[in-house]
Amino acid sequence: MNNYTIDSNKKYLELYNSSTQSPEKFWDKLASNNFVWNKKWSKVVDWDFKKAKISWFKDAKLNITVNCLDRHVIKNPQKTAIIFEPNNPNEKHKSYSYSELLVEVCKMANVLKSMGVKKGDRVCIYLPMIPELAFSVLACARIGAIHSVVFAGFSSNALATRIDDCESSLIITSDGSYRGDKILNLKQIVDDALEICETKQKVLVVKRTNESMNLKHERDYLLNDLIDSVNDVCEPEIMDAEDPLFILYTSGSTGKPKGMVHTCAGYMVYTSYTFKNIFQYQPEDVYWCTADIGWITGHSYILYGPLSNGATTLMFEGVPSYPDFSRFWQIVDKYKVNQFYTAPTAIRGLAKQGDDFLKDASLKSLKVLGTVGEPINEEAWEWYDNNIGKNKCPIVDTWWQTETGGILISSIPNVIPDKPTFATKPFIGIQPILIDDSGDELNEANIVGKLCIKYPWPSIARTIWGNHERYINTYFSAYDNMYFTGDGAFKDDEGNFRITGRVDDVIIVSGHNLGTAPIEDAINEHKKVAESAIVGFPHDIKGNALYGFVTSKDEINDEKLIRKEINNLISNKIGPIAKLDKIQFTSGLPKTRSGKIMRRILRKIASKQYDDLGDISTLLNPEIVQEIKDNSI
Ligand code: WTA
Repeated sequence: MNNYTIDSNKKYLELYNSSTQSPEKFWDKLASNNFVWNKKWSKVVDWDFKKAKISWFKDAKLNITVNCLDRHVIKNPQKTAIIFEPNNPNEKHKSYSYSELLVEVCKMANVLKSMGVKKGDRVCIYLPMIPELAFSVLACARIGAIHSVVFAGFSSNALATRIDDCESSLIITSDGSYRGDKILNLKQIVDDALEICETKQKVLVVKRTNESMNLKHERDYLLNDLIDSVNDVCEPEIMDAEDPLFILYTSGSTGKPKGMVHTCAGYMVYTSYTFKNIFQYQPEDVYWCTADIGWITGHSYILYGPLSNGATTLMFEGVPSYPDFSRFWQIVDKYKVNQFYTAPTAIRGLAKQGDDFLKDASLKSLKVLGTVGEPINEEAWEWYDNNIGKNKCPIVDTWWQTETGGILISSIPNVIPDKPTFATKPFIGIQPILIDDSGDELNEANIVGKLCIKYPWPSIARTIWGNHERYINTYFSAYDNMYFTGDGAFKDDEGNFRITGRVDDVIIVSGHNLGTAPIEDAINEHKKVAESAIVGFPHDIKGNALYGFVTSKDEINDEKLIRKEINNLISNKIGPIAKLDKIQFTSGLPKTRSGKIMRRILRKIASKQYDDLGDISTLLNPEIVQEIKDNSI
């Protein structure tokens, strides 16, 4: 990427200006010179935000795995592609060179083919962070099947919804998953999901924990039984630039998750370019992102971004607290990790444990630190900078979304200075603006507004699977001719952006997006519950935690029991990540005259900002506010 390497602020400004002044020329050259194509495009970008129609590199042909694997096998076959660090530090780690990884991916691809999977079919992947997860994702891409990875902490209900929505034909799972000292029986969760699924599935099972399990005849297959008889070569399917590469579900403000669709070429180009420059990856570096591949961060910055650059990327199966809270730092030292990318919630959780867990850590190898997923507070930023980076590692606070495919706003080490709590500047090609409530652009400095993006970038999602109308409505109808992010932001007088948080009904808990509607739907299924409203409130470690206000149909004698039952329901319907920290029973919820719940008031009460409730006189039932205040937890 020589001409495109961002190695000074001057170069950044030069590239930024050319990418915004002549985007077609810019991306045309960058894509031509740095990737392997079977056929070139007829048009670089074609877009109409009104109809949410966007295409990049139209008519081009390629396979992303050729760019992630084959081309590196030709140049540097022995280079380590993936290092796998198991949950248990006493279990031996594994490394896969680029040539070994290609063989594993081809074998998995041939297994999928032998089970009848074809180009365009959807494959649901419900696996722990084991190498087979990477093989499965890449195997789908190899044969043109569309992967839909579901985070293996989601419940059977949530899994079933996602399976049915994309009408997959195969699920790849494992017998179990190691999480610290616990074992989660994933196959059982899949079995339960299939009881309620409307679509017919085959199941491919990877053995990891050797839990006992039932294998259903002609539905369930063990990978071990199939893998030895397949060929280790699999020719890549030649894909159109705009063929879907994957679907990844994210929460929305209505009950149903949104299956964001990403396509082959633009996603590849943008994740590759951002990875190389934002992490300043050098050929011998070892890079570690602690996310799960079940989230977009894992897709873009554990797999596709690093591998398309021929990087060494680390996959960790376990949790930061096992066997104790020094685990992350032990791993950094063990592999001499150079770039470390994690979430603010993990940083806060580790900081709280005190510095004892750091006393044996050298951390000398680290060059760049990163964060993603939610705003990072100043205290956590300082702790990260002092204790992990030893004040010598730039911190990239990377702002982006499942929908954006790659990082849109971030500092760049030694190019764009970091600034605590600010994501800072737009990446090459990104044109962020702030909008006021009436849709006008805010041009002044030191102002807060809704964050929108003016021009498409290569890895923007193309649609919501099966529901293009919802895609248009959610992202392109709020403001004319712009992509609306759902986030608020502040811009300082140097043009640095600080993300202030969601402005819709999505709450970010421990870095995970949770829509309030599906949680409320789950609670409302409880036979005693009449109505409920969920809001977020500040939490030391999770960033936000959930507070539920619940009205009941009849008297509740045992509040403790009902609280437990409500959280069990949520766990079942969505997953343990969506459980409520606080549940307050109340005789009513504050409503507008049109019957809308005034969440603004509930949010203030949950955050204990009792004096700042605003005008409540227009409410249908203003008297309820006092009751809720008096009984708040
Ligand atoms: C939030 C994760 C502040 C934001 C890649 C966004 C952030 C949502 C940051 C997307 C950051 C992500 N600073 N907020 N650096 N990064 N967010 O889809 O609200 O899981 O809209 O993608 O996380 O979450 P998602």
